[in-house]
Amino acid sequence: ARPALILGIESSCDDTGVAVVSASGRVLGESLASQADIHAAWGGVVPKLAQEAHEAAIDGCVEAALAAAGVRPDQLDAVAVTIGPGLSLCLRVGVLKARQLAAAHRLPLIPVHHMEAHALVARLGATRFAAAAAAAEQLQQAGRQPQQVAASVAAAEAASEAALSPEAEAAVADAAAAAAEAAVEFPFLCLLISGGHNLLLLVEGIGQYTQLGTTLDDALGEAYDKVARLLGLELKPSGGAALEAFAREGDPRALPFSVPMQRRPTCDFSYAGLKTAVRLAIEEQAPEPTDANRQLRADIAASFQRVAVAHLEERCRRAVGWVQESHPQVRHLVVAGGVASNQYIRGRLSAIADAAGLRLVCPPPRLCTDNGVMVAWAGMERYQLGLVEPPPASAEVPDGE
Ligand code: KG4
Ligand code: ZN
Repeated sequence: ARPALILGIESSCDDTGVAVVSASGRVLGESLASQADIHAAWGGVVPKLAQEAHEAAIDGCVEAALAAAGVRPDQLDAVAVTIGPGLSLCLRVGVLKARQLAAAHRLPLIPVHHMEAHALVARLGATRFAAAAAAAEQLQQAGRQPQQVAASVAAAEAASEAALSPEAEAAVADAAAAAAEAAVEFPFLCLLISGGHNLLLLVEGIGQYTQLGTTLDDALGEAYDKVARLLGLELKPSGGAALEAFAREGDPRALPFSVPMQRRPTCDFSYAGLKTAVRLAIEEQAPEPTDANRQLRADIAASFQRVAVAHLEERCRRAVGWVQESHPQVRHLVVAGGVASNQYIRGRLSAIADAAGLRLVCPPPRLCTDNGVMVAWAGMERYQLGLVEPPPASAEVPDGE
């Protein structure tokens, strides 16, 4: 039987993302329309403008993803779509399109929680590698020569949908090694950091999440966005990414911001106090962005980032301690969500994972920020468990949904 194919649609905030993935975790086609330019001009996401941009982009994105995959809609096995959390005006655009496709082609519909998609995409690469490695192992056990292995991997890839490019034996060996190390299996510890959420979760299976900590006020991405705006940075590709780049020019010890909630021994987060401290420092020392105060602003950016991440580290260290007591089989710390594309954060958290004997897994940056692949993949994981809705009779969303 050919592997299942799922199309996923994401439209919860300011990115229209569509992708087609296969059961082995191969991304067959992908399309992403960013609204960064529109919202940068307004200093943040304006829901009505975001909705209009999604409406303008959605049909083209679906067509582009299907065309890149070489798949017709009737060849799909299901359509997955983000149903929340997010901006309702924006979510509606994706849900309507998904229902249209599902109704027209009699496909099951898979509602996906946006944060679950962020978490599960960490399992995508591992699955690809695992499939490739399994194919390679069989071939090697059969005593094939390198050229034969390469040719056979190509055949095996076509047959099993393993996603390794048919390069050569070396690549096969690398994939096998990576698969053994990287396969993210349940249960795992997960830190989700995005524009709207800051969560520490123990993930024991699809839909089996134990929340160890959440934010009491702002999410980290929100704090990055706010500070970027106060510092007068151009908010592209996002406030967070702009701040990360700008902070490289600064001295992270220049300003003595204090790490939030140090006397509260929980895994919860708080960024409102730090945000206020940074705002006051900017109002006092660099109220208008100028060339003359550029160094000072970079110092503020770097100091904010150091302290914000020290807070993440402290909470992660505690969560690792708890989880290793209660679930010693946990082997991975997954860090995902838009803020996880930050290289400085990855570096600091990898030290914590290393110290605890855990493997840090961060999806590649383009899969950390909002995208269609993560929704398609979360849909695939749910599809494989039969967690689907029957094809809708029409595109219209029933009352009360
Ligand atoms: O997951 P995401 O794309 O959308 C939400 O679900 O919110 O995350 C967006 C957030 C924004 O706040 C953005 O500023 C932040 O992720 N972000 C970053 C970086 N890239 C994106 N924050 C810090 N460093 C980055 N490199
Ligand atoms: Zn997101």
